[in-house]
Amino acid sequence: MDTVIINDVGPRDGLQNDSADVAPAERANLVNALVAAGVPAVEVASFVSPNAVPKMAGADEVVAALDLNDADFSVLVPNHKGYVLARTSGIRSVAVVLSATETMNQKNINMDLDTTTMVCEEIVRQAKEDGLTPRAYISVAVECPYEGLVPESRIEDLARRMFEAGAAEVIVADTIGAANPAQVKSLFTRLVAAFDAARISAHFHDTRALALANAWQALECGIRKFDASIGGLGGCPFAPGAAGNLATEDLALLLENTGFSTGIDTAKLLDVVELTRGLVAHDLGGRSLAWQLGRTKAA
Ligand code: COA
Ligand code: ZN
Repeated sequence: MDTVIINDVGPRDGLQNDSADVAPAERANLVNALVAAGVPAVEVASFVSPNAVPKMAGADEVVAALDLNDADFSVLVPNHKGYVLARTSGIRSVAVVLSATETMNQKNINMDLDTTTMVCEEIVRQAKEDGLTPRAYISVAVECPYEGLVPESRIEDLARRMFEAGAAEVIVADTIGAANPAQVKSLFTRLVAAFDAARISAHFHDTRALALANAWQALECGIRKFDASIGGLGGCPFAPGAAGNLATEDLALLLENTGFSTGIDTAKLLDVVELTRGLVAHDLGGRSLAWQLGRTKAA
């Protein structure tokens, strides 16, 4: 059976943007609950400025509370300082974040595109030298909230630079959920022709109700690794209009029903949605949640 890896980014992409303050110990509990439900990879935190993203404070405490042998855990790092803090925490994988446009880099991490690209290359090289697994996000990969449509050639160029620096994986992110399946088909067909599909991951948001359709399209292009977020938590504080991520429970259901293996216990995952709802104290859940809950009760 074809295996697809879901990397749950709820504890980072989700909670960074939520109105709730979730303490590091509770964030670690959430990570452990995801792992207990069979989620093989989790982005657990980001080492960013607490002034820029107050909700991610205490990333080192989150990492310290985890057994790093349990799953493929990673953190996001925006700059050298974040990388050093992440390495000190003991985490074994870091993801740098490179936005595809000038304005988005400025808004997100206060650097221009060229500088960000160079900083990302340096961090990727350093991480590899230090024995960590480096990954690279390319965000606003289809459309930028400030500059509009992004040329595919730029995504290919930036991905090449990240791979050449030593990135184990490039995560192509539709940060604001603006992409449609036709755009996804075109971009991912190009990337899969240029690079090894096994080293490309896709990250979709559900702003226009197309996240699942986009994931299916990327799957058809040969992509076998996806970011998703428990309960569809998510957004980006610096990208206006970004709604929640593709919900992990929706993606897992799609994959398990179409002959792919995720290793996830979809019933247990519903308990994790419930746990997350308790942490953020507001409603959440992917599109299939009501149906999935009904089915579990009826069984
Ligand atoms: N972790 C913790 N603190 C950091 C840091 C990091 N990675 N990078 C910088 N800082 C601290 C500096 O030490 C400095 O602290 P001080 O004021 O006490 O001296 C302060 O933040 C400002 O540092 P500076 O280098 O001038 O950063 P900046 O103000 O230009 O901000 C970033 C740049 C990258 C730190 C900030 O924009 C950021 O954290 N962005 C993250 C965005 C994000 O997470 N987006 C969502 C995910 S894509
Ligand atoms: Zn995102």
